Amino acid sequence: MAHEPGAIGIFDSGVGGLTVFREVAHRLPHESIIYLGDTARVPYGTKSPETVIRYAQSCARLLLQREVKLLVVACNTASAFALESLWDTLDVPVIGVIEPGARAALRRTESGRIGIIGTQGTVTSGAYEDILRQLMPEAVVHSRPCPLFVPLAEEGWVEGDVPLAIARSYLHDLLECAIDTLVLGCTHYPLLKRTIGQVAGPGISLVDSAEETADVVKETIAHLGMQSPEAEGRHTFLVTDAPESFGRVARHFLGRELHEVEWVDV
Ligand code: DGL
Repeated sequence: MAHEPGAIGIFDSGVGGLTVFREVAHRLPHESIIYLGDTARVPYGTKSPETVIRYAQSCARLLLQREVKLLVVACNTASAFALESLWDTLDVPVIGVIEPGARAALRRTESGRIGIIGTQGTVTSGAYEDILRQLMPEAVVHSRPCPLFVPLAEEGWVEGDVPLAIARSYLHDLLECAIDTLVLGCTHYPLLKRTIGQVAGPGISLVDSAEETADVVKETIAHLGMQSPEAEGRHTFLVTDAPESFGRVARHFLGRELHEVEWVDV
């Protein structure tokens, strides 16, 4: 059994959180990372808050058993529903993806008119709106769930007529609202950045929560003096179902398949 005390733990409902893993691994090559994809219970985006909190707690427990020093909730839906519960119950730093994405949106916007796209759960939770309005009360926020982007990303079908038509249909109303910034508030959406950008046009700045979160992880590790000694970090991938299929789909997220994926029960 892989065991890497002092690693960074990252969890997501499935494969999408590899967008966050990729950015963290890129910025922190010396850190070991344990990634857990809860593939048995994906999707989280359609589940109730109570269920997502329960799932998030069990993922966190498993990673803490492996002695991670810091936990990253890569899943937007889990960050939206479960972050407070994790902060209240865990004694390691826990970083979600919503606040970094929201802060980045505020740095980019000039008009204060911001669009959010995410799963049904993330949009219904109002988590992005809450943070944006706390930080900028006059912000005007419009949100829209885009559920079909998730299977498209997992199929690797991110460009061409079909994704473009779906993106046009999803984004139509948001674009009528004169937003100047659009937050990609779901693990999978960075894969569709080109198509989304094509529909949104050059006047709208796209915020990739994965990149922003990875910056916060790097800053937090430095700030807390938690850096690992100079060595090459080891990467461990755990899933709760179908390791082979996870390894194959990973290609669309990492540009390579993963061959050593371990099944775990949470
Ligand atoms: N990881 C989820 C998110 O970022 C998307 C997939 C799901 O619905 O579980 O919200």
